[in-house]
Order: sequence, then C-alpha cells, then structure tokens
Amino acid sequence: MRSFIAAGLSLLALGATAQPLEARAATCMTTANSVKVAQNFRALIHETFNVTLAKTALTKDFTDYSDSVITLINSGCTGPVQLTTPTFSTRAEFIAGQSSQPPIPFKILNLWHTCSTVVIRWRASAGLGPATPQEPVTGIIVIETQPNKNKASDQPFLIQTVFSEFNSGAWLYDLGVFVPTNCTAPAKRSISANPFMGML
Ligand SMILES: *[C@@H]1O[C@H](CO)[C@@H](O)[C@H](O)[C@H]1NC(C)=O
Ligand SMILES: *[C@@H]1O[C@H](CO)[C@@H](O)[C@H](O)[C@H]1NC(C)=O
Repeated sequence: MRSFIAAGLSLLALGATAQPLEARAATCMTTANSVKVAQNFRALIHETFNVTLAKTALTKDFTDYSDSVITLINSGCTGPVQLTTPTFSTRAEFIAGQSSQPPIPFKILNLWHTCSTVVIRWRASAGLGPATPQEPVTGIIVIETQPNKNKASDQPFLIQTVFSEFNSGAWLYDLGVFVPTNCTAPAKRSISANPFMGML
C-alpha cells in the first residue's frame, strides 16, 4: 500500500492529470471491495441460491477448481469426476450445479487481499451430515477477480477464478461416507498402510 501511495504522489509531482490515479483506483481493490467479493462467494454457497447474485457477481467464464469438492462428489472414489479438472468451467455450470446444493454453513475466519485477489480461510462446524459429533471442516479459498467493465454495477470486482481446498476427509466423515475404524488407539496402528501415522 505504501508503494502504491508513493507512486500516486510522484505522478502528481510530475504534474500528471488525475486520470492515471483514477485508472489505478479502478483496478486495485480496496479492503471494502475485497470484503464484498468474499461475502458474495459466501452468499452463493451459504444462502438459498440466488441466480441473480451469481450473474451479478461472477464473470461468464467463471472457473472453480476444487479437488476437495471433486472428492466429495466422488465419495472418495477415483471417479466419476477426475481430480485436477475444473469443478465448474463456466458460470452457467456453477449455477446449474450449485443451485441444487443445500446451503452450507460457512464462517469466514480470515481475509487477505491484493489488488485483484481475495484469500479467505473459513470453517463449517456443524450441519454437514448425519455423523455425531460433527468434525469441523476448515478450508482456504483463493479468489481471483476482474474489475467490472459495467461501471453502473454495484459490483466493482467480479469473481473469475476460485481455487478452493478444504478438509474433505472430515466432511466425508460428517456425511457418514467415510467411517473410520480403530479410532481408540490410532498411535498403535500399523504405519504400513498409512505413512502419515508415522507423523504422530
Ligand atoms: C439476489 O441477489 C440480487 C443481486 O445481488 C439482490 O438484489 C436480491 O435482493 C437477492 N435476492 C434475495 C432473495 O436475496
Ligand atoms: C484394527 O486393529 C486390529 C488390532 O490391531 C487389527 O487386527 C485390525 O486389522 C484393524 N482393522 C483395520 C480395519 O485396520
């Protein structure tokens, strides 16, 4: 931010018009802009699906990457959706897929932003499935935006690309899809099948 302000001041010192400053302000998001972007994404998955909001807040070529979501779709199996492929390749695909989903509890824990990217850390602590007690699911989402060309819109920055990963293991547990065994003495389990046990 400091270098941004310094650049603006040096333009003024050189006698430049206000034009470059306005242009810069239009393409570098403010913290308020970043909060709006994060709240839009949260609303799209946390509230009753709003097609108007999706069309207002996402670019047409919106793309969502989430191996965690694909793992949920696949119930932890290797298909039908291939890991590493986009979960949604367009806004229309997102609207078709997400609108059939029940609202997901979603609390934003942290938010950071650059001129064009918003990063959030989030958590869902209940209501993800029938398992009791529920395991909390924590995730991180990187949201890339584009300045909105429609200056009349109340959305200055549109969501273009989403990279979203979260604890899909805990979510599959909450759904009852993954049922762990031998939970009472995990440290005694053999590490041959699960090398991560060696980290205990
Ligand atoms: C849906 O989103 C639009 C655009 O943000 C908003 O004007 C409208 O109030 C929303 N509808 C509901 C039911 O929240
Ligand atoms: C659970 O633990 C017992 C005793 O160590 C072992 O014999 C059994 O194979 C384990 N079951 C699974 C599914 O890992």
